[in-house]
Amino acid sequence: MYLSVTQCILGCTLLFYGARCAQLEEENVTGGSVVKLYNKGQRVRLHSHDIKYGSGSGQQSVTGMNSETDANSYWQVRSPSDTHIPRGEAIKCGQAVRLTHIQTSCNLHSHHVSSPLSHEQEVSCYGEEGEGDHLDDWIVICSGKTWKRDQYVRFKHRETSAYLACSGQSYGRPIHGQKEIMSSTSDSSGQGKYWKSVEGVYIKPSENMGTK
Ligand SMILES: *[C@@H]1O[C@H](CO)[C@@H](O)[C@H](O)[C@H]1NC(C)=O
Repeated sequence: MYLSVTQCILGCTLLFYGARCAQLEEENVTGGSVVKLYNKGQRVRLHSHDIKYGSGSGQQSVTGMNSETDANSYWQVRSPSDTHIPRGEAIKCGQAVRLTHIQTSCNLHSHHVSSPLSHEQEVSCYGEEGEGDHLDDWIVICSGKTWKRDQYVRFKHRETSAYLACSGQSYGRPIHGQKEIMSSTSDSSGQGKYWKSVEGVYIKPSENMGTK
């Protein structure tokens, strides 16, 4: 008990500067936040690394990773290709975002290319220095007004309407045990299409944004 209260207070102090612990779960995911995305169906985190697909597009691969602590599982929530989301602004349900992989600066991407294992739609990491193309835009599908931390949401690919999902199928070498991430328009993957933001750094709205 003592430990968890201490951890909560520490977490609040470090990440939320004065926010009350009780409000943690109600916090919005905001523009500029760096998060890990946890898959409900397969209990993996969205991951990428400097390993290209051996088939399909040959672009950088995206997988589902069991480890909680891997630094290659951080993604930044950024403006989509056509509009600007101010840093710290709550992401609205139905709004498009780009998810940029922190370690390699490419964007979560999908296109009409067959995925390696399930032969659904391939999801790759595309572009350099955070610049890719319009196929990097994902609409956040959630209930309510804004994307809340710890709320399961879906990511619908803006161009193809396919949902980001973990198929549950596992890769062999050299990324043994990592799970296939793909996108799918079918209902078959169920909970594999639901994601929540977990460990991360959440950017608070700037204090001088509103007028006093
Ligand atoms: C989340 O965002 C909404 C809309 O901008 C805002 O009204 C609400 O106060 C925010 N919630 C928190 C806990 O900051």
